[in-house]
Amino acid sequence: MTDRYAVIGNPISHSKSPLIHRLFAAQTGQDISYEAVEAPLDGFGHTIARLRQQGYKGCNVTIPFKFEAFKLATKLTERALAAKTVNTLSFDGDTILGDNTDGAGLVRDITQNLLWVLQDKPVLLMGAGGASYGVSLPLLANKARLCVVNRTVSKAKQLADAFASKGHINALGYDDLVGKKYSVIINATASGLSDEMPPLPEGIFAPDALAYDMMYGRETPFMRFARKHEAQVENGLGMLVEQAAEAFYIWRGIWPDTAPVIQVLRTA
Ligand code: ATR
Repeated sequence: MTDRYAVIGNPISHSKSPLIHRLFAAQTGQDISYEAVEAPLDGFGHTIARLRQQGYKGCNVTIPFKFEAFKLATKLTERALAAKTVNTLSFDGDTILGDNTDGAGLVRDITQNLLWVLQDKPVLLMGAGGASYGVSLPLLANKARLCVVNRTVSKAKQLADAFASKGHINALGYDDLVGKKYSVIINATASGLSDEMPPLPEGIFAPDALAYDMMYGRETPFMRFARKHEAQVENGLGMLVEQAAEAFYIWRGIWPDTAPVIQVLRTA
């Protein structure tokens, strides 16, 4: 029998997840269906209840429901607990297992697709919202020397305190960055959505640095700034496919080959 999965968000019509999971399924010979489901803004819990009743095996969760999914899960993985948000739910009898594969997806894209070493590297993480919480644990697990920078410095400090026991992490404001250099700069802010540039100083990139914007589908001011400073610029498309691969593995116990799927999305 075909096992059913879905991605839930609002809005959801532009989600690439159905295409990604269908490509994974075709590649690995898994008999699954995967569709996009729009939940009403006040109806996430009801939508999950309906899917469970209909026998779905799990779902991905995207904006704006990742925190609600975290609260709804009856069991959480360590990385979901650290992220305080959930993007992957698995339904197993009465148990709703919540996981967060975003950070693992980002780190896999950086280390395995782009072949960057994070260990002992100064990595600047911009933003201290949900997206940054989602990726901090896997970055620290890969021994990055992490600095989180945020306009509202108190939020950066809060994040650094929350992860202090997990590795090398400190918090700064943008003004404190003058004179500092980083090998990898990750944009986890919402600035690209409003076509804004986080207030980075000139000279922030170490020679041959990587500029990684977690957004995809558009050139952000951060990407343009990074190109001007001759950094290697990457968007979040690889992370999107890798976080999906992690979810696929959780559900199906098999790793899809992500490279051809990333290629399809790039040329789409
Ligand atoms: P998400 O869940 O996507 O991380 P969020 O929790 O609303 O969204 O967090 C948005 C993040 O983007 C915050 O860190 C925010 O900085 P502040 O906390 O100082 O508001 C950051 N952000 C948004 N617009 C920005 C901009 N133009 N420049 C720099 N940071 C920005």
